[in-house]
Amino acid sequence: MTSPAPRGAHFLFLLASSRRDGNAETLARHAAAALPGGTRQTWRRLDEHPLPPFADLRHASAEAWQPAIDGHARTLLEATLAATDLVFVAPVYWYSLPASAKLYLDHWTAWLRAPGWDFKARMAGKSLWAVTALSDSDLRYAAPLEGALKLTAAYLDMRWAGLLAGEGNRPGDVTRDTRALTAAKTFFRSADPGSRADG
Ligand SMILES: Cc1cc2nc3c(=O)[nH]c(=O)nc-3n(C[C@H](O)[C@H](O)[C@H](O)COP(=O)(O)O)c2cc1C
Repeated sequence: MTSPAPRGAHFLFLLASSRRDGNAETLARHAAAALPGGTRQTWRRLDEHPLPPFADLRHASAEAWQPAIDGHARTLLEATLAATDLVFVAPVYWYSLPASAKLYLDHWTAWLRAPGWDFKARMAGKSLWAVTALSDSDLRYAAPLEGALKLTAAYLDMRWAGLLAGEGNRPGDVTRDTRALTAAKTFFRSADPGSRADG
């Protein structure tokens, strides 16, 4: 018998691989399949929501710093704020995050200052998770990716909820990583119903 979904939980899966059906996505789908029935899930492929290059206008004039949040940025911002749980589904690229995930994070810097969105206060209390894949059998090479997201969570008073890592290079390889698949079954169990933020 599955336990009921935490009241109000809404998981946003941010797919950051530059290919479809890759190892990180496969592992994330395994983990999501074990979420309690009825848990709200939204899946967004960052490559399908291309963001403009980030321009650092923080110290420009007040007129220059009126970031228009429209198009894909607005879609991603609204999805981000609507979620209680953000899950980066991001393979290791050069020991770090893929560019699409990094660009999405850079845009948080604009969203933090965008009038009327109250981004910082509304991010506080959400949970941040990561599901990754890498070709190296030594999962410690995912440490920079994990560290960046962990520190990001702390900066925004979010809860760092954990990393699920699997080994694989070609799509499908991760299905042979039995340790990762076993870990996926319980990965989201530490979702904490007591610390839900309302979108
Ligand atoms: C641009 C790029 C950089 C990569 N850098 C690393 C790396 O630093 N360490 C590693 O172990 N694997 C690296 N890989 C391999 C991928 O992490 C691996 O193929 C992974 O399974 C891809 O995940 P996906 O199938 O979800 O796209 C890299 C792959 C690409 C395309």
